[in-house]
Amino acid sequence: MVSSHKILKLTEIAVIGYEEDAKESMPNNLVFELDQDHFRERLNKYTRKAFQMLPKLEKPRILDIGCGSGVPTIELTRLSDGQIIGLDIDQSLLDKLNKKIEEEGFTNRVKTVKCSMFEINFPDESFDIIWTEGSIPRIGFEKGLKEWKRLLKPNGFLVVHDEIKNITKKLKLIPNCGYNLLGYFPLPEDAWWIEYYGPLEKRIQELSIKYAEHPEILRILDKKKEEIERVRKNPRNYSSIFFIMQKL
Ligand SMILES: C[S@@+](CC[C@H](N)C(=O)[O-])C[C@H]1O[C@@H](n2cnc3c(N)ncnc32)[C@H](O)[C@@H]1O
Repeated sequence: MVSSHKILKLTEIAVIGYEEDAKESMPNNLVFELDQDHFRERLNKYTRKAFQMLPKLEKPRILDIGCGSGVPTIELTRLSDGQIIGLDIDQSLLDKLNKKIEEEGFTNRVKTVKCSMFEINFPDESFDIIWTEGSIPRIGFEKGLKEWKRLLKPNGFLVVHDEIKNITKKLKLIPNCGYNLLGYFPLPEDAWWIEYYGPLEKRIQELSIKYAEHPEILRILDKKKEEIERVRKNPRNYSSIFFIMQKL
C-alpha cells in the first residue's frame, strides 16, 4: 500500500500547457499518475489541423522548438514521413520524449537535442518546417520569428501555437519579420478547459482522495488546484492560436 507511493526521487517537470510554465518538483510516481501528457494529447486535433494547412512535403526535416515531453513531436512524426528533431532545455522532459520515441518505434526518425532556443546553432536552411507549441513566449514572438528564419530552407514553413494575446500586433509582425501568413486559427475559447484543465482537475481530485494521508503529495496537488483555479477564473487569458507562416 503505502510503500509504492513513497517519494523515491524528486524530478523536475515543466507544467505543460499555456499557463505560466513554472517548474515544480514532483515525485516520479505522481508524474506518472497525473499523466498530464494524456490530457495534452486531447489537443492534438489542433496540431493536425495546422499540419493539414501546409502543402504536402516529401520527407520534411522538422524542428520542434521547446518540444517538452513531445506530445506534438510524436504527433508530427505520425502526420509526416519526415525526420524530426525535438529541442528543449529540460533534459528530464527530453528523457520522457526519448522513452516515447522508443515505445512508438520512431528511433530512426526522431532525435532530441538539449539546447536553449536562444542558442540554436544548426546551419542556415536546415529545415523545411519549424514547429513550436507553447514555447515562443520564452523568447518573444518577434525575436523568435526573426532568429529562427535563417534555419528554414527557402519557402520553408513556421508553425507557431501561441498565446492569443496581442494578436493584432502579431499579425503585423509576421510580414515585417519576412513571412507570408498562410493562415491562422484560434482554438475554441473553452478548448483548454474542456480538453486539458477540466479532466486534469478531475484526476487531481481522485489523487487527493488516494493520497489523503500524504501531506507532501497533497501540497503539490493543492498547488496544481490553484493553477487550475486561475484558469477557471480567466479562461480568456489561456486561449491560444495557431499561426501558419511561410518564409518569404
Ligand atoms: C508550455 S511547454 C510546451 C511543451 C510542448 N511544446 C507542448 O506543447 O506540449 C514549454 C516548453 O519550453 C521549454 N523551454 C523553456 N525555456 C526554454 C529555452 N530557453 N530553450 C528551449 N526550451 C525551453 C520548456 O522546457 C517546456 O518544455
